[in-house]
Amino acid sequence: MLTQVFETMESNVRSYSRSFPAVFRKAKGTLLYADNGDAYIDFLMGAGALNYGHNNDFIKAQLLEYMAEDYIMQGLDMFTVAKSEFITTFNDLLLKPRGLNYKFQFCGPTGTNAIEAALKLARNYTRRSNVISFMGGYHGLSQGSLALTSNQYNRQVAGVGLHNVTFLPFENNAAGFDSLAYFEMILEDSHSGIEKPAAVILETVQAEGGINVASPEWLAALKGICEKHGILFIADDIQIGCGRSGNFFSFERAGIVPDIVVLSKSLSGYGLPMAMLLFKPELDIWQPGEHNGTFRGYQLAFIGGKAALEFREQTNLDAAVKEKSAYINRFLHEEIKGDDERISIRGLGMMWGIDLSAYDDVLLAKKIAQDCFKKQLIVECVGRHDRVIKLLPPLTVEQDVLDKALTIVRDTIQQHTGKKANLQTSVA
Ligand SMILES: Cc1ncc(COP(=O)(O)O)c(C=O)c1O
Repeated sequence: MLTQVFETMESNVRSYSRSFPAVFRKAKGTLLYADNGDAYIDFLMGAGALNYGHNNDFIKAQLLEYMAEDYIMQGLDMFTVAKSEFITTFNDLLLKPRGLNYKFQFCGPTGTNAIEAALKLARNYTRRSNVISFMGGYHGLSQGSLALTSNQYNRQVAGVGLHNVTFLPFENNAAGFDSLAYFEMILEDSHSGIEKPAAVILETVQAEGGINVASPEWLAALKGICEKHGILFIADDIQIGCGRSGNFFSFERAGIVPDIVVLSKSLSGYGLPMAMLLFKPELDIWQPGEHNGTFRGYQLAFIGGKAALEFREQTNLDAAVKEKSAYINRFLHEEIKGDDERISIRGLGMMWGIDLSAYDDVLLAKKIAQDCFKKQLIVECVGRHDRVIKLLPPLTVEQDVLDKALTIVRDTIQQHTGKKANLQTSVA
């Protein structure tokens, strides 16, 4: 099938189709099939919306059954059986066992809409407008969330001022800057000139920002500062949540309890649009309808979301993720980095980055990703100037597919750098 219809009729704003210009028809597990039958290994996974793989059979069965019975599909925010079962299952399988007590707010079905809701809630609850965000953070592209997103490329088209946000460097930033000491200083110095914030928002692992992993100690210290000063802590778990870190919530490894948690992407389990907030009950100062939206009641997303939680339990998915994560980590260090000082490997769970920004060639990561695509592996580049190759397999990735993808990445990097990692131990 030709790509001409897209090239002539679709807006220039399209993005992923430029890096991966095949026309896709089918998908299963980790594989995407182009219209001509070519199979691609998908390590982009709907930018994190497909943690359980494409068309997961367990989840699909419940969706098909639901549709076959003509159960309600769109319910605004009315009471429905599907929503009730989703909330109950989420509470029983995730919140109660972790001792978490949160209220649920269903938002318009995109991550950015849930971020907007979190911002409104935090600002109205604290009666403050400033929010702390981190350099390298990505929180969406609508007006409020765009103000939190640091990438200048996205910010420059806002068309209005993006105010009421103060950016701090993330942990392990290039300048070695101690953001937490600075944060404390501006809070305590009456001459800091920076308004006390309503909230701090962050991804515990910055995804689009280049796979920057915050340490548990740093996260706990940041939470401590927030508590001391009455500032809300918002965890944007839209991409690193839903099991990708090796636990359902990415902040579990730091032993902290955020005031507000934002979830979307893989929440419905099947790539269906869905987004929600979890927040501490005392924050629930909303009046009815203050953050309305037509598509807060997409019932198939509730069905898929409940099925996904059952699937996690039945397959002991967190343990599998931790095992695969260790395997990927070892491969990347031994077979790709070796003793090459110009390559940095960062990641957690099933989100990994190969940072090539120390190479002189600013386009190196992009060229490698393009060549991977020619070998039918889909990987994207993230971070400053797209110099980090991002690996985002589904949590359910099959071992042989994982090996094949890692081998393609290794061989392609070697072709470009002319350097073989010298600690080779074959894993395939
Ligand atoms: C961490 C994070 N927050 C927010 C968003 C925005 O979500 P959406 O694209 O669904 O608006 C994304 C999307 O990539 C994200 O990765």
